[in-house]
Order: sequence, then C-alpha cells, then structure tokens
Amino acid sequence: MPICIVANWKLNGSRAFNTQWALEFFKNFNGHNFSSLGIAPASLYIDHLKSVIGDYDIKIGSQNIDLEQTGARTGEISASMIKDLGCEFSIIGHSERRILFHETNQMICQKLIQANNNFVIPILCIGESAEENQSNTTFKVLEQQIIEALENVDELSSLIIAYEPVWAIGSGKTPNPEEIDSVHEMIKDVVQSRFPKIGLESVLYGGSVNLKNAYSLFEQKNIDGALIGGASLDGREFALIANLFNELRIQQ
Ligand code: PGA
Repeated sequence: MPICIVANWKLNGSRAFNTQWALEFFKNFNGHNFSSLGIAPASLYIDHLKSVIGDYDIKIGSQNIDLEQTGARTGEISASMIKDLGCEFSIIGHSERRILFHETNQMICQKLIQANNNFVIPILCIGESAEENQSNTTFKVLEQQIIEALENVDELSSLIIAYEPVWAIGSGKTPNPEEIDSVHEMIKDVVQSRFPKIGLESVLYGGSVNLKNAYSLFEQKNIDGALIGGASLDGREFALIANLFNELRIQQ
C-alpha cells in the first residue's frame, strides 16, 4: 500500500508527546490500512516513536536526509542511518529546508539519489511562492523544480511528490481543490513524459490540510493523499483525516 497520508511534525515533539499522540490516534482511527499512513517525527525520536507504534504497520520516515552517506558533516543524518532505524521514507526539499537552510534543486537531487541508494522512498516537495502564484507562473516554477531535481537522477525506483504551495503552509489558506487537481495532473504529465524511468507513485497535496477541508481535497481524482503539518500534531485530527481518506478511496 503506498503512503498516502503523511504527518510532518517539524520541530515539535518529545517522548511524552509520542505516547499521548498515539493514544489519541488509536482511539480514533477506524481504518485497517495502517500502511497507507506515514509519520515524520524529528529524527531524534524515530526509535521511540517506533516503539510506541509497536507492530502496527504505520510507516515512519524522516523530515530530511543529508546529501552524503558519511563524512565530516557535523550535525547531519544520512539515508543509511534512517534506514538502519527502520524508516521507509524521507521528506526531501521541503520549502522550509529550501528557504531557511538554502537547499537548492541540485542538493535535493543528490538527496534523492541517497534515498534511492538506501531503499528509502523520497517525498519530494515542490511549490510556488505567493508572488509566483500571483504572477501566474506556478506551472513554470514547478516544472523547473521537477526538472532540476530529477535531471541527474538516472533511475528512482519510487518517488512521491508533494505539491505544497509555500503560501499555503501554516497559513490556513489553500488553492481551491480543482486548481490543486490540475496542478497535480500537470506534475504527473511532466514526470511521465520527461522522466519515464522514474516510478512516480503518487502526488500528495500539502499546505493547511485539516479536518474541514480534507474531504473536498480527497474527492479530486489527481490528489492521491496529503502531507500534513499543523493538523497532524493532534493524534485525533490526524486519525479522522485518515478515516475520511479511507472512506473515499480505499473502501470503495
Ligand atoms: P501545514 O504544513 O499543514 O501546517 O500547512 C504542511 C507542511 O509543511 O508539510
């Protein structure tokens, strides 16, 4: 089962948080397809979260990996290390990494290769800024991000793309669902036509997804799931969003 609903906890959490979150989540999740869910805690808590989740097949991933496997790179964490901890995916190129930590498409490309070499599924984040959106350059910007991130990658056995407009993240604003759907269609077309050797599994939407807007997003044909920040910190809300996804997509 591909990963469809992914929690990005960003710089939040503690061992007590993991325990409380899991309590709330398991009380409210009524699906059986645990494997469609992913959680990306701070890397420091991956091990603890895994022990709290126990035998349930929820996938655990990281929010970032380094572009090298080993070396004198103080503070970094490699794809092989997260794999060693049992991670199955990593978010790569989140806009917060691009903006705050100056990650370029070229660095992101190297991270994608690292993920692939270590059998970690990359969730590549792309998205336009508010200005780019207002000047109607969204498609162009996204196409460029995709091409630059993928052009030196020979093969990727699997790839998930998350479309996350920068202006929608943490703002309570989202494009309308039909707009997102057409962006996702374009993303799929670009990857399939330009990079036929890359196995694009799905395109998720991220940016202010919550319990109120999730249904209208999941109704769209080309929205294959969601990458959720703020709302995912609440175990109950994350479970209820996942339930909606199951009702619409999986149990049909
Ligand atoms: P948000 O964050 O749901 O809080 O907008 C999404 C993300 O940054 O991945």
